[in-house]
Amino acid sequence: MCGIVGYIGKPKPIAEGLEALKRLEYRGYDSAGMAAYDPKEREVMCIKAVGKIEKLEKKLKGINIKASPFLFYTRWATHGGVTEQNCHPHSDCKGNIWVAHNGIIENYQQLKEKLVGEGHKFLSETDTEVIPHLLEHAFKGDIAKAVQKVVPLLRGAFALVIIAKQDPTRLVAVRKSAPLLVGIGKREYIAASDPSAVVGMTKEVVYLDDGEMAVMSDKGYTVQDINGNHLKKKVDFIDWNIEDAQKGGYEHFMLKEIMEQPETIADTMRGRFGKEAGTAKLGGLEVVGDRLKNIERVHILAMGTAYLAGLVGEQLISEHARIPVDTDPASEFRYRKPIIEKNTAYLFISQSGETADTLAALREVKQQGGLTLGIINVVGSSVAREVEAGLYNHVGPEIGVASTKAFTSQLALLAFLAAFFANRKEKKLPEITEGLKKIPGILARMLKDTRQIQKLAQKYAKIDNMLYIGRKYQYPIALEGALKLKEISYVHAEGFSGGELKHGPIALIDERVPTVALCLSDSVYEKMMSNIQEIKARNGPIIAVATEGDKEIAKIADDVLYIPRVPEPLAPLLSVVPLQLFAYFMALLRGYDPDKPRNLAKSVTVE
Ligand code: AGP
Ligand code: GLU
Repeated sequence: MCGIVGYIGKPKPIAEGLEALKRLEYRGYDSAGMAAYDPKEREVMCIKAVGKIEKLEKKLKGINIKASPFLFYTRWATHGGVTEQNCHPHSDCKGNIWVAHNGIIENYQQLKEKLVGEGHKFLSETDTEVIPHLLEHAFKGDIAKAVQKVVPLLRGAFALVIIAKQDPTRLVAVRKSAPLLVGIGKREYIAASDPSAVVGMTKEVVYLDDGEMAVMSDKGYTVQDINGNHLKKKVDFIDWNIEDAQKGGYEHFMLKEIMEQPETIADTMRGRFGKEAGTAKLGGLEVVGDRLKNIERVHILAMGTAYLAGLVGEQLISEHARIPVDTDPASEFRYRKPIIEKNTAYLFISQSGETADTLAALREVKQQGGLTLGIINVVGSSVAREVEAGLYNHVGPEIGVASTKAFTSQLALLAFLAAFFANRKEKKLPEITEGLKKIPGILARMLKDTRQIQKLAQKYAKIDNMLYIGRKYQYPIALEGALKLKEISYVHAEGFSGGELKHGPIALIDERVPTVALCLSDSVYEKMMSNIQEIKARNGPIIAVATEGDKEIAKIADDVLYIPRVPEPLAPLLSVVPLQLFAYFMALLRGYDPDKPRNLAKSVTVE
């Protein structure tokens, strides 16, 4: 999500902090801010600006102080609009303690109520601001000790970097489920969200683990657990340079975004499980809680990959919450003079929140008084602003034009929605919620070794046409696999449902047209096996995506990519990942840049 840079050492021109922050720019953000301690004046200066880092740079022009410690920050808003007031660093009532935060404090509301009751004055709408106020209570002259007292009170995910005017020789950094590391220089240290920010100063870093805190001064650093016990940490060496840094060490944004899916799915799910198994807690929908009670139908509208996520959601919600669901490409829906029904919830899915077709359909529904909901990644985007209620993906910026981590996050949110609608009918979906909890761990194991997929791409790198087939939950994944391949490798690829094959597409099959068959050990396994037989009988090569333990499939398919067994409605979260990687490797082998596919734009803001 956002980017943090904190420095302590010999006082430096603040322009150096700005340069380090610029190297985190690729992470995406909506505003930027800084706080710096000026040792001459013994004062903290704080400046913030909405928009690009250049806006902050302009405001800092002519301010030539040398500072230490200092914080630089880019925000990716989750709580509270994109305003200067909401941008970090945030401080306590006295302007003593300054905090930059990446992540979400889930229990901020309770904490804030208590603090307000005690007389604390809040200046922003963020979840973050509770932290400096809590620290104000705990501060007795030693900022590290105050942090130790406050961290156990916080629920959620956070990377925090903190300075205090009344304890100016220290910089404190804490990590829980959000990235943070310490760059080690010569009597100078940087705490940062990722290594790109430190490579200008040093190549030696210590990666903090969850629950760890680094305390730095110009004399040295220690890493401690939250009780203050000192820990021995390995110092890693960064073996790449500033140019590579933007992609966090990966060759392409697309690969980075594929590989970070275990974390991004966990980020999406955080705080959304209800107390009891099978229940979902979707705070974003509370504002329309009463209207949702009367909902008899859901209509999903989206484009491209988001639309394909919608097709999975349609089955999830209708099969498990027993509510009829329709899904349409937003571009088609609006031209058919749609009848907007009172008891239907219209759900708009969009990573960017700026897709013109989706936005136009949303406006049409709103104009006719329909209830509009959203699943959006970009906070404060047009769709996010215009829907009545919605859920954010919280997966951070997706930069690769081909959507990957947003898709799996959309699938996870749709599974939560199925549980949410089921819960309204006193039904619980424990198979789905408990299954979801295991997905990040399973995916992390799957992503450990991608060599088999790379080899497969080598085998097929020169082909011209490819088919993808699947049924039920895997049908939209066949469509998504084909979309990914054509978008970035320019191989002509089409997705079909297994059942549709003999109604036409089978005419294309011969030894030069391979088919990717999503054939998991699920309720449609046998039907898919029959489709595979039909293709083999016409000499078509088969790449199967199958469930671990299925030996039968290996006898008939030319290649098998196995994925672990999970409940059928959740299997799309796993089965799409080898297809994303296959498309990525195919693009590389065919000599194309997967991050910049020809003719495509990241957000399609024209119809
Ligand atoms: C995905 O790989 C595509 N580039 C594209 O289909 C995309 O999903 C579509 O344009 C919708 O974008 P949105 O999610 O930002 O609305
Ligand atoms: N939740 C915080 C906010 O909305 C931090 C967001 C971030 O990670 O940038 O301000």
